[in-house]
Amino acid sequence: MDLGLPATTVVPDGVPPLTDDTRREAREIIARYPRSRSALLPMLHLVQSVQGYVTPAGISLCAEELELTKAEVGAVATFYTMYRRRPAGTYHVGVCTNTLCAVLGGDALFAAAKEHLGIGNNETTADGSVSIEHIECNAACDYAPVLMVNWEFYDNQDPQSLRGLLDACQAGNPPAPTRGPSRLVSFKEMSRVLAGFNDGLGQEGVAAGPASLIGLDLARQRGDVAPSYPASEA
Ligand code: FES
Repeated sequence: MDLGLPATTVVPDGVPPLTDDTRREAREIIARYPRSRSALLPMLHLVQSVQGYVTPAGISLCAEELELTKAEVGAVATFYTMYRRRPAGTYHVGVCTNTLCAVLGGDALFAAAKEHLGIGNNETTADGSVSIEHIECNAACDYAPVLMVNWEFYDNQDPQSLRGLLDACQAGNPPAPTRGPSRLVSFKEMSRVLAGFNDGLGQEGVAAGPASLIGLDLARQRGDVAPSYPASEA
């Protein structure tokens, strides 16, 4: 069935076009929500899953399907840093440089990544295999310094392990993440998961690891208990 893609699907060389299937899946996402505009965030991930970043054609598609202006869609796409404005690498490497990771080596990791790949922040290697970005706290401070590749965790890194990981990504053979799925998928494949299309690799049942439980174990050993609230404040 012709779903009537607009002329704005013209895209740069090498970037796959959005298709009728994309639009069909966008409508599938919209149908999940009581208010259609709530679907915008996963729809932008859907665009990235096809094109590798949020293209003008992707913004147009979202705007048309949600009856928003392109300015409204663009404002959302440029506000959240998970949406790329240029093509991401097959493996998009985020290096946390927030306070705890920075103190424990995050800044050194990011410097090593730039030096090893010969690219800067938010840039992609010439072969399209790896892009890098310094990112904010991943809520994984207990495993600092951490990297995320396509939003999967690589814990307790150092410059040597980082270089090995980057080499493996460039060779197309990255190791499994430290936690979570059994293997690392590409940026486009991960974007499809973030659009709400489950790839079956997630292990959501994994509990908190030892580093996250040290404080709790210590409190138990000491017999510490939290004071109870007065009944009037409960
Ligand atoms: S500061 Fe890096 S994960 Fe929190």
